[in-house]
Amino acid sequence: MIGERGVAQAAQILREGGIVAIPTETVYGLAANALNLRAVTRVFEVKNRPFFDPLICHFPSLDAIRSLIPDLTEDQSRLLQLFSPGPLTLLVPRPAAIPELVTSGSDKVAVRIPAHPLTLELLNRLDFPLAAPSANPFGYISPTRASHVRDQLGEKVDFILDGGPCAVGVESTVVEVEGGYGRILRPGGITLEQLQEAMPHLSWGYVTHEGKSKAPGQLESHYAPHKRFLLVDKPDEETEETASDSVFIGFDQPSSLPYATQYLLSPEGNLGAAAALLFEALHRADVGPHRAIVAQRVPEQGLGRAINDRLRRAAAKRS
Ligand code: TXA
Ligand code: MG
Repeated sequence: MIGERGVAQAAQILREGGIVAIPTETVYGLAANALNLRAVTRVFEVKNRPFFDPLICHFPSLDAIRSLIPDLTEDQSRLLQLFSPGPLTLLVPRPAAIPELVTSGSDKVAVRIPAHPLTLELLNRLDFPLAAPSANPFGYISPTRASHVRDQLGEKVDFILDGGPCAVGVESTVVEVEGGYGRILRPGGITLEQLQEAMPHLSWGYVTHEGKSKAPGQLESHYAPHKRFLLVDKPDEETEETASDSVFIGFDQPSSLPYATQYLLSPEGNLGAAAALLFEALHRADVGPHRAIVAQRVPEQGLGRAINDRLRRAAAKRS
């Protein structure tokens, strides 16, 4: 099997301190041995990522997390148990083995167990966790296909492990639990509703990015296409761009304006299906011949929160 060979090769490159693009259920990651300072430094350099933006560490299992970080609280263990493998990232105490560069100097490290068979197999073959940010140049659209990584980073990466299109399509939900309080630092593949239902004894805070408190690296402008990018609430809403020279990315209803091209993320109105196609639609619209991209916000519930967060930040002005 190609997957098999690919995993063995990826493992060898990572052991030697190389960097490998890995598939996850959310987006492709750019992985390095999290305990190897030089390898992690290269990840920042290849992405052109500022050092104040910390990386998530990926593990194969809760046992593997516990062997490096023994002092998880009961709530932390339970959350990981409930949603892993899956798109949940949890902040836990940083052990000395993980260099401060990985956490941008914080005494908390973000950990997650990705739900992708190839990457789980890869992690199981390694005796170190993988530090991996999304495999895009800093600030640009996240990759949900191996081809996105190839187009954006190409030669700069030692190896790309192709695991097909990402099933979830938006990044993991970043969560902090402390005392009786749970805080969502970044909305993502696990919804606020799921978290509230799983742990009703915690009072849940949802940090929108209009809010004061942000996770490091959650910059206002992110996920941005190169083209002019505008948001609308309804398919027929006019913008200052000419529709005939723009691409429309809608949710479930087409626009009756004369757009050059239209993509519907989910004609059935399914937010999960829409999340899975979001970044692919942005990539396609961005390489096409038209001047601008107009995207429609989706309902602000469930996965819609993560989709709207990405759309809003893709539309934010670059500083
Ligand atoms: O789904 C995902 O999470 C993907 C896949 C590859 O796992 N990864 C991803 O990584 O989205 P990245 O680097 O694009 O976003 C990581 C974000 C940081 O920008 C930061 O907001 C938060 O996670 N984060 C990471 N470590 C943190 C820490 N120690 N303290 C607070 N926030 C942290
Ligand atoms: Mg990212």
